[in-house]
Amino acid sequence: FVTPLTLSTLSQSEVIVGSFPRPNSGSLQASTRHIDLAQWADLMLIAPATANTLAKLAHGYTDNAVTTLAIAMRGPVVLSPSMDVDMFRHPSTQANITALRELGYYVLEPEHGVLASGLVGQGRLPNLPKIQKALDNILNYIHQDFKGKKILITAGPTYEPIDPVRFIGNRSSGKMGFALANAAAQRGAEVILISGNVHLQTPRHVQRYNVQTAKEMFTVVMKHRKNKDAIIMAAAVADFTPLKPASNKIKKESSDTPTFTIELRKTKDILQHIGEKKGKCILAGFALETEDGVANAKKKLKEKRLDLIVLNNPMEEGAGFETDTNIVTIISKTGKIERLKKMPKFEVANIILNKLSKLI
Ligand code: CTP
Repeated sequence: FVTPLTLSTLSQSEVIVGSFPRPNSGSLQASTRHIDLAQWADLMLIAPATANTLAKLAHGYTDNAVTTLAIAMRGPVVLSPSMDVDMFRHPSTQANITALRELGYYVLEPEHGVLASGLVGQGRLPNLPKIQKALDNILNYIHQDFKGKKILITAGPTYEPIDPVRFIGNRSSGKMGFALANAAAQRGAEVILISGNVHLQTPRHVQRYNVQTAKEMFTVVMKHRKNKDAIIMAAAVADFTPLKPASNKIKKESSDTPTFTIELRKTKDILQHIGEKKGKCILAGFALETEDGVANAKKKLKEKRLDLIVLNNPMEEGAGFETDTNIVTIISKTGKIERLKKMPKFEVANIILNKLSKLI
């Protein structure tokens, strides 16, 4: 409907239609134009973002100027989906949106109302002031206050082997630790993420190491802990591990009685260990409590010599392990206690980072 010339004349800007357009200034190489643009922009907005564009970006396709530029971007990429209600609700579109959020894209919610098809439902592009407000919020978050800072973050569960096929694990999904890694990287930090077994994509610009057991996590954390400005232990590290994992699969017949006993021993407390020689490094831990939360969290803060502890209760609706939201209370060394309302883990992550930023 609208030609590039019309848009170019009205906006008094160049309109890009091909992946490798001819540069109009002699200094830029045509073949790296998308890289130049990606580095120039503070933020990229794709509005409207179609189901097709969401699918391409979720899987890394770069077959047009928009997707090529999006993948080359270092700063935040914001997607404002707009489509028919059934296309928006389709499980593949929803799965792509989840994957995009994990990858660090910002996906705005489309509005409910009358759609181009005449149907009524969710899928309308929000009005421009609303999109503008969302962009302002994102730009506020991602000011580069962690530029040059080195941060180590742990995430996810540890698996403690019983035999070659069985393990003792926990319900941690890793979402909180990954949200922290994602947010810290977007704010300019150099992030090392040490993760247990999770089903999450590594956020952009994050260096990830995978581990299985508490012992491996201890070793890898110790290897990378030097020269860090902050360490955030969001992992759900097992407190106990089988004393003697069997080298072959344990057979049912190995017990003649209806019970079977596995002897466990305590694992090393990683956070406690780091706390003993933390130097200038800022230390943050998590406390997962189902009763006496504040008292227990304060005790952990003191014993592990932390600067800050994030308390959450997995029994609360919208908090804990597998959810995309969390309800946390942040307790700092100074004794300040702040309970936050239920919010997406990415927002919780940014609030935790705001506090760390002041301490570093
Ligand atoms: N943690 C750790 N190493 C362990 C166990 C826990 O570094 N072996 C860290 C966690 O990553 C978290 C904090 O310690 O940041 C608190 O973990 P949590 O499981 O709540 O407490 P524990 O100290 O293990 O005590 P308890 O399980 O008895 O509540």
